[in-house]
Formats: sequence, C-alpha cells, structure tokens
Amino acid sequence: MKTKIGIIGGSGLYDIDGLQGAAWVDVDSPWGAPSDAILTGTLDGIEMAFLPRHGRGHVHSPSTVPYRANIDALKRLGCTDVISVSACGSFREDMAPGDFVVVSDFIDRTFAREKSFFGTGCVAHVSVAHPVCPRLGDACETAGKAAGVTVHRGGTYLAMEGPQFSSFAESKLYREVWSCDVIGMTNMPEAKLAREAELCYASVAMITDYDSWHPDHGSVDISDIIKTLGANSNAAKAMVAGLPALLGAVREDCPHGCDRALEHAIMTAPDA
Ligand code: ADE
Repeated sequence: MKTKIGIIGGSGLYDIDGLQGAAWVDVDSPWGAPSDAILTGTLDGIEMAFLPRHGRGHVHSPSTVPYRANIDALKRLGCTDVISVSACGSFREDMAPGDFVVVSDFIDRTFAREKSFFGTGCVAHVSVAHPVCPRLGDACETAGKAAGVTVHRGGTYLAMEGPQFSSFAESKLYREVWSCDVIGMTNMPEAKLAREAELCYASVAMITDYDSWHPDHGSVDISDIIKTLGANSNAAKAMVAGLPALLGAVREDCPHGCDRALEHAIMTAPDA
C-alpha cells in the first residue's frame, strides 16, 4: 500500500511548508463538514493531507471540532497514517514550555463530544488499550529531535473538555493522583476515532505552559500560549517535513495491528 500521511494541526499550526502540487480540497463526509478544507500535496514524493483542527482562523473550539468528520475525511482521502500536533500544558517540571511530548496514553475526561462511528445498527467495541501507534511515535521522536526540539518519548495526556483551563485542585489531582504528564483539550475522541477507522495515530503535544499547579508560574494565559506556539511553529513544521522520509513510500501492514482494529470488534450480527 502507498503511504499517505494525514496531519491534524492544532493551535499554532494552520498549514505546512514545502508541499509540491499543493491544493486545498473540500471533502464531503456523512458525519458532517470537517473543520476545514484539507491541504493536499506531496513531500519527498509522499502524499500528504493536512487538516487544521480548529479551521483556518481558529473557528472551532475543542468541544465543537467535528472529530468524526475529520477522521472520516482523512480516511476517505486514503490516509494510512495520522499524526496529531497540538498544544498542551505540562504537569512535570522537566517537561518545559517549548518541549514536544510524543504521547503514549490518554485519560479521556471529555464529555460533550460524539465519540464513536458505531451505535444503532452496527455496534463495535475496539480496543484502545494502546491508543498510539509506536511506529508513528518512533518517526515523530526522530523527526522532532532532528528539528532541534527537546522531545520526550512517552507521556500520559489528560484530555479535558474545556474551554476553561483547569482549577488548581483539578491540576493537582491530574498531576499528583493520576500521574498525568500533559493536559490538552483535543486529542480525545480523535485518537479513539482513528482507531475505529483503522488508522495508525500518534500525537505530538507541544508544551506551552505549566497548567495551574506550578507555584512559580501564574495561571494559564492564552497570550503566553500563543507566544510559545509562535516560537515553535517552525520547529513543528520542520518535524512534519521530516516525517515522509522516515515513514517511506510503501506502507506495510501495521506491526501493531492498528489497521486491523475492527477484526475482532464488531458485535452486531452480519444479517441483523
Ligand atoms: N492547551 C495548552 N495548554 C493547556 C492547558 N494548560 N490545559 C488544557 N489545554 C491546554
């Protein structure tokens, strides 16, 4: 199979550089309209599809991002692999603003979003015990380091509903009791939906702040977040530019089975 890399860009990443034959294409989905048109083209001879998660101009809040339409649109375009780039807060002193975290697991605390492609008519329960594809994680780690960024491999991402940031007590709970490493508002249900769509998925979380727990830092401030993201958007673009050469033109079956997630997941009888 030919590799096609889908990139979902978050706050601060609304396009990618160096695409050959770049064109924004509208993709229809039965799940509604995606966040925006999708920027397609090739990088190093490999097909790419870039979707700005919040839309150009940042018009979708984390709760109103059409996650199902976005994943479906990337699948319809033929993407084999999806890499999420997003902003996050840090619960760890050694994970500092400006660093990237290649996320390894999630705790999903979102509650106001559609979380599955399955429901009435066809019921499926996919495993998200290991929600991130390690093969894609390897590529993100290597590409991030090559872009000159401090990259942390592995970390648990607390997905909160937002749009408000966490209280001090919530921040301490996530950090001290639940041992989370970073917090953001967008990676869930995206990661779950990618698995349901049998797409390999990895997430690079760009740290912008220390959330609300840190005694030496004030509460989270959107202007500081934007400043840090601005300083990091070139690094994020450089990381994305390194991915095609690392992933290669030919996509073998995923050794971790992400692309066969539905094989043992469907409950509904075929003739029901
Ligand atoms: N995105 C960036 N920083 C964040 C934080 N502290 N909490 C939730 N989402 C974020």
